[in-house]
This record gives sequence, C-alpha cells and structure tokens, in this order.
Amino acid sequence: MDHFLYRDGILHAEDVAIPDIAHTVGTPFYVYSAATLTRHYRLFTEALAGVPHLVCFSVKSNSNLAVLKLLGDLGAGMDVVSGGEYRRARAAGVPGERIVFSGVGKTGEEMALALEGGIRQFNVESEAELRALSRIAEGLGLQAPVTVRVNPDVDAHTHEKISTGRKEDKFGIPISRASEVYALAASLPGIEVVGIDVHIGSQLTDLAPFEAAFAKVAELTRQLRAEGHDIRRLDLGGGLGIPYTRSNEAPPLPLDYGALVKRTLGDLECEIEIEPGRLISGNAGLLVSEVIYVKEGEEREFLIVDAAMNDLIRPAMYGAHHDIVPVTEPAAGAASSPYDVVGPICETSDTFARQWPLPSLAPGDLIAFRSAGAYGAVMASEYNSRPLVPEVLVQGDHFAVIRKRPDFDEILARDTIPEWL
Ligand code: LLP
Repeated sequence: MDHFLYRDGILHAEDVAIPDIAHTVGTPFYVYSAATLTRHYRLFTEALAGVPHLVCFSVKSNSNLAVLKLLGDLGAGMDVVSGGEYRRARAAGVPGERIVFSGVGKTGEEMALALEGGIRQFNVESEAELRALSRIAEGLGLQAPVTVRVNPDVDAHTHEKISTGRKEDKFGIPISRASEVYALAASLPGIEVVGIDVHIGSQLTDLAPFEAAFAKVAELTRQLRAEGHDIRRLDLGGGLGIPYTRSNEAPPLPLDYGALVKRTLGDLECEIEIEPGRLISGNAGLLVSEVIYVKEGEEREFLIVDAAMNDLIRPAMYGAHHDIVPVTEPAAGAASSPYDVVGPICETSDTFARQWPLPSLAPGDLIAFRSAGAYGAVMASEYNSRPLVPEVLVQGDHFAVIRKRPDFDEILARDTIPEWL
C-alpha cells in the first residue's frame, strides 16, 4: 500500500496534488511520502515483534538525509556500505550504536571513521578485511564488533545483477569455511565476534531462498557456539521484493517474512537484525516527469518526456519495469493507446517502457513513474549534463524540497580548467 492516489481526478502524494509540486519545483523530480515510509518501516517492526530486533534501513536504496532522519526518528538503525553513507546516517542523527557497516571493500579510512565515530558492528566479508580491521582497531585502542558475512550458496532466483548468495558471487566467505574464519577472528586482538551476517540478494519474490539461507545460519549458530564463539546477533540482510506492477506480482509480505524468521531462528535467543531497503523506500516514491513531445514513428508513437535514464537508470540497467501513470486521471472508459516512453538522452537504452498503455497525452502533461523511491535518486547521474534530479518529501498536506536541483553555475563550477590550457 502507498499514499499516491487520485483525488478529484488528480494524482496526489498524501494530501498534496502532484501538479502543485511540479509548479514549484519544475520537472523532473522525485517525490516521497512520509506516511508510506513510516508504514513500511513499521510493517517490519510489527513482523518481528516478540523477538529482540533492529530494523536497519539499507541506506543505499535512498540516502536522502530527510528520509534517513524520518526513519531514524522512528527508531530505525541503518545499514551503510561506505564512509559517505556512514556520514549521512550520522548527519541525520542516527547514533553509531544503531549503524551496521556492510560491503566487500571497506577501506582503512572508512573503518577508522566508523570506529572513532561509533558503530554497532562491521559485517566483514573476508579474512583480509578481518586482519585489516583488527590492525586499525588495535591502533586506536579499540575492539571492532564483528559479524562475518557467510555465503550460504543459495540461489535467490532474482535478477543476475543483484543476486549475491551463490558460490560464484563476490560476497561473504563460503559457509563451509566459517569455522576457520571465526577461529581467526577470535584470535585477532582488535576483533570482537558478536554474530553472523547473511544477505542473499535483492528483489526476492519468494520466501524459499530465505528459508534455505536462514536454516543454514541456524545450524551455523549452533556449531559456532559449540566452538566457543559468542553468537548473539544474526544479521539477515535485506532483499524482500516489492510489486513493481499492480497486476501480476505478489511478493511475500513482511509479516510472512517475520514469521519465517521466528520459525527458523526464534529459538536461538539472538538479537535479529535485518537490512531492508527497497521494501521501505521503493513504493514510497514517484518520479514525476513532463511530456515534451509526442512523436509519430513509422510503427509506434513515442512519448518523449523530460526524465531520462540518468534520473532513473533501472530500466536501462536491469530491464526493470516501473508502472507509468498519467497525473490526470483518465475518465472511466477512456481509450488508451500504446506509447514507447523515452527520455531525451542520445542512446536507445534511454527507454522506460515500450508499448505502454496511456490515455492520449500532449506536451505539458505530467506522468509519474511508480515504485521509484528505492535505487532511483541514489543511482542518478548528470549524464548528458542534465542537472541531478531534485527530491521532495510530502507529509500530510505539506511538502519540502529535500534536495534541490543544482543550477548550472554550481555544475560548471565543479570543473576546473588548468592554467596551462
Ligand atoms: N544489505 C546488503 C548487504 C545489500 O547488499 C543490500 C542491497 C541490502 C541490504 C538491501 O537490499 P533490499 O532490501 O533493498 O533488496 N540497484 C539494484 C539493487 C541493488 C541491491 C544491492 N544490495 C536495483 O535497482 O534493483
């Protein structure tokens, strides 16, 4: 469920009419609903009620400070994968003890930043990283709290580019080697083992791969405890998928996911951490765009809009689908015709949808890409020297620009022409 509905024939974000935002901010822009973000976060805390838990929002899915502050104020922890994301979480007021640091390539500088600033745990992905972290923590007179990310060799049956839990993926250490790696961790002076971490992929639409992975984690917990390790936290990663189209997708609900967690891991008396990104932010955001031209091709009609692949790269990068809706609600029974919805960028991959049914549209009309709150703005670029797309947050009947569109003076000022040219 989200809070983007037609009211009096106009698409609204909560109580704000989308054209009102477009009028103030210009297009294209992202708009997020505070109520939807809140609701999706609470679905997880409710699903895990009864077991000690921390829901760590995956900052990579949407890292705007206002979004992080909203979730942080509700009690969310944060899952960060870079020094930059760590700084964002802290700048949004999230205390270090609620931040987990994931990622295969943490640098020494990033480790020191988090150790000095405060961190709940590092999710370590290799022996080399364990040694480096121990050295850095020791140098600071600290011990780094650590889980080791294990790769359970489970196929998440999701898009090739976002699957992470198979043997051939670069993530974690093979679960078969866990015993050895935990023994190393226990022997390192700068490391304190606190638990186990696993993350098998993103946009999972089936619970079975989670079940397989969690069963392996349960077994490993017992084994590592028997070997003398204090396994008190289980970080289960993120990955629960969302419906990208209203018609034919029904990914599992957080409630069922929570029940699965309790069934497979509930008797271990561990604190459960999860790292959802997409399920919290995905359907809490739209990308709003204006039609520039309608172009009659030989065989098809192109809707050329002012958003492009630099603003929302998922269709070009993963072949992902985002439903596209007109901001003015079509009259009941109004005819629709298929459009190829494309952006202005000079390559064919700048295509959002082919033969997508929409009512008859004209230049100046607004459309919205749904489910764009996760991995939308964060993956945007300035390709073709298009200014970075702005972001807006709506709460009830008011809205605020939470990242402004840079002007061209700012954009040009970032480059320097060397004197010798
Ligand atoms: N934890 C870890 C360690 C991760 O690598 C990820 C996502 C998450 C949590 C959050 O997963 P979520 O709950 O959002 O599925 N750019 C791609 C998605 C990449 C996901 C990478 N890791 C896309 O647009 O679909």
